[in-house]
Amino acid sequence: MTRNLLFAAAAAAAILMRAPMANAFSPAPNAAEAAGPQTASLPDGVEVRSGGVLLRVTALRDDVLRIRAGRGQLPEDASWAVLADARRASVKVEALAEAGAVGFRTKDLVVRLDPTTLRLTVEDREGRTVLADAAAPSLKERGFSLRKSLPDGERYYGLGDKAGPLDRRGQAFTLWNTDAYGYQDNSDPLYKSIPFFLGVAPDGKSYGLLLDDTFQTWFDFGRTDPKQLSIGAQNGPVDYYVLAGDTPKQVVEAYAWLTGPAPLPPLWSLGFQQSRYSYMSDAEVRSIAERLRQERIPADAIYLDIDYQDRNRPFTVNPKTFPDLPKLVSDLRGEGFRLVTITDLHIADAPNQGYAPYDTGVAGDHFLKTTDGKTYVGEVWPGPAVFPDFTRAETRDWWGSLYKNFHDAGVAGFWNDMNEPAIFGTPTKTMPPDVAHRIDEPGFTPRTATHAEIHNVYGMENSRATHDGLLELAPDDRPFVLTRASYAGGQRYAATWTGDNSSTWSHLALSVSMQLNLGLSGFAWSGADVGGFAGSPSPELLTKWIEVGAFTPLFRDHAAKGTRPHEPWVDGPEQTDIRRHYIEERYRLMPYIYALADKTARTGLPVMRPVFLEFPRQPEDGNLAAFMLGPDLLIAPPRNGESLDPFDVTLPGGGWFDYWTGKPTAAVVHETPSLARLPVFVRPGAILPRQPLMQSLSEAPHGALELRVYPGPHCRGELYWDDGRSMRRDDAAVLRQEVRCETTPNGLKIVFERRSGGYRPWWNGLHVAVYGWRAPQATAKLDGKPVPTVFAPDPGVLNVDLPDQPGPAVLVFE
Ligand code: GLC
Repeated sequence: MTRNLLFAAAAAAAILMRAPMANAFSPAPNAAEAAGPQTASLPDGVEVRSGGVLLRVTALRDDVLRIRAGRGQLPEDASWAVLADARRASVKVEALAEAGAVGFRTKDLVVRLDPTTLRLTVEDREGRTVLADAAAPSLKERGFSLRKSLPDGERYYGLGDKAGPLDRRGQAFTLWNTDAYGYQDNSDPLYKSIPFFLGVAPDGKSYGLLLDDTFQTWFDFGRTDPKQLSIGAQNGPVDYYVLAGDTPKQVVEAYAWLTGPAPLPPLWSLGFQQSRYSYMSDAEVRSIAERLRQERIPADAIYLDIDYQDRNRPFTVNPKTFPDLPKLVSDLRGEGFRLVTITDLHIADAPNQGYAPYDTGVAGDHFLKTTDGKTYVGEVWPGPAVFPDFTRAETRDWWGSLYKNFHDAGVAGFWNDMNEPAIFGTPTKTMPPDVAHRIDEPGFTPRTATHAEIHNVYGMENSRATHDGLLELAPDDRPFVLTRASYAGGQRYAATWTGDNSSTWSHLALSVSMQLNLGLSGFAWSGADVGGFAGSPSPELLTKWIEVGAFTPLFRDHAAKGTRPHEPWVDGPEQTDIRRHYIEERYRLMPYIYALADKTARTGLPVMRPVFLEFPRQPEDGNLAAFMLGPDLLIAPPRNGESLDPFDVTLPGGGWFDYWTGKPTAAVVHETPSLARLPVFVRPGAILPRQPLMQSLSEAPHGALELRVYPGPHCRGELYWDDGRSMRRDDAAVLRQEVRCETTPNGLKIVFERRSGGYRPWWNGLHVAVYGWRAPQATAKLDGKPVPTVFAPDPGVLNVDLPDQPGPAVLVFE
């Protein structure tokens, strides 16, 4: 009985079992355990106490497990990353009735714990191993390590925007948010710590693992020992989640269930964004805006980097160079531009100077302190600076209130940079590990924590404070926050970018794998500085980067101080024409991109995807540089940068369509690189919605919505529209519609399903274009009534114009 009471949470339901005497951990068992490890079945899992360590495995869902362990007791049930509802979820499990085994079954999984060694094995219901400990877990006085099997052929993805190849196998990483200016392929650690990875077997079966420990952690995917995957932490709780799926998509969706999907961004943020460190004056910003319009380069946002501020002090404006910010904002708005301003997290250490963020911060006791109780001061852009204590709700509220003036002035978005936090003039590039943070957060016991514990979540909590502050100021407007540092779950608050990359061809390639892995790690909205931040791109590199960037989630051209200008027009009309063409294409594709954004907000599926996410059983085909925008577009940038060597693109499942010509392709397309061509292919079975060209997303387009239909298997497309800005997601505020197609013996049938949601879209009709039509003629009927058809621009493309179709309706081509 006494022993049973040790299992506080399980006391009632526990079935006490005796296991053989053994010890997986270093400390000696206490007297109560001298008789050996004790195990208990719980309604939703199992618990084992052995060698002074308590380990519990529970099922949050049939496909999601949580594993926690601690010395004597379980770690606190709290998390910065995992949603409280997900942590509280549980499913009933069936205890294993196997001799000598401890464990349980869910509908999807079989979990076994060896009470002797505490080794954990997770299998699917067919008995196939999902994940198995390769050694007993090792808990030290501080920190722990876990070793898992590393099956042949399994590939690993995730960990956010770590550099290096897309597949993490054979690599090792440290997670410690770091200002990494000038990083290269093999640099580590970088800006973010997202301790989540995905393991994908050759047949597509997948699992994910989130190690929810905010201290410095490490992941070694067979680099030290090619037979083992090992992960560990310097300190903090053993608290991890295993997510299993038949496909990687299922795991990515389960991860979004756990940590929250990236919400729908404001529509304008999906347009072309022009930035530079820094546009130095009101006049310079106006001239950039004017030139973009003159050159007919569609664009939606211009960024102000730190030089718009008074002496680099966040939340100030230099009155000499930007004498009237509200006027600048409203004039730009008149031209269809939004302004985004940087607001770094460091606050200048400026007592008695009338600097309100400092004064109100001191008055509210919002700054971090050293162990001796003095305010911690570190050197950053403004010189000596102090740092908000973002793990306190009260401090986050205060921080959010600092945006009021800028918000009132009409600034549309905010950029939280340097929030690793970056500190100059110290070898660690950040603050000392013993700086004290106060935790005041539901789920956590209020306490003081060291910077070593909070460092990796500090940037995320900074972006959270900004996001929540903006919502407080304008509850119906979708906030736009861009953050450099973050942690698992940070996608709930901000979009991100890959930090200070370089103007080289290898960085263009790297930006693709970094953004793909960010997308698999929850961050659907990411960008890389187009053209490269450090250094000056050649005209060709900038052009190719703009081409690729046009098909990535966030499309922002940005450059460091002292580099040559990067704006699309700077290299003369020939380059400008190519660049304009790709930027325009992105604007035309906006209905497709926006429908993806809606899907992402509901499912967590990334906008930019590795090919294997859509085609998990497709063998690795060497298309290493290729990626997908949503389920239907495959983009294949040249493999070797500026090299003009031809390369082959292998399209999953056979021939696709060339996006640019609309012509059906072979299964392997031979590409000869050229500056003006970025190979883009459309999946057979895609229905792509497109819109008329505009210079800014704040203009309502005029005319018809175009539906490009590419017949093939699983033929479908999705329409989504709303007002582009509001938080409302109710039926009246949105429009969703599915359009399907089927090939028939004589032609093609297009089905417009009934529209859901009552939002009235901008289009006044539909232009349907069917690609790959082989017959010399065609008739079309909409719900039985004839509609005129036109072949254009060539005989393979069949067009009809229709009134808008809220559905249900059927269009038949014969
Ligand atoms: C950091 C940012 C960069 C920005 C610069 C000045 O280096 O990563 O994007 O331009 O600071 O604010």
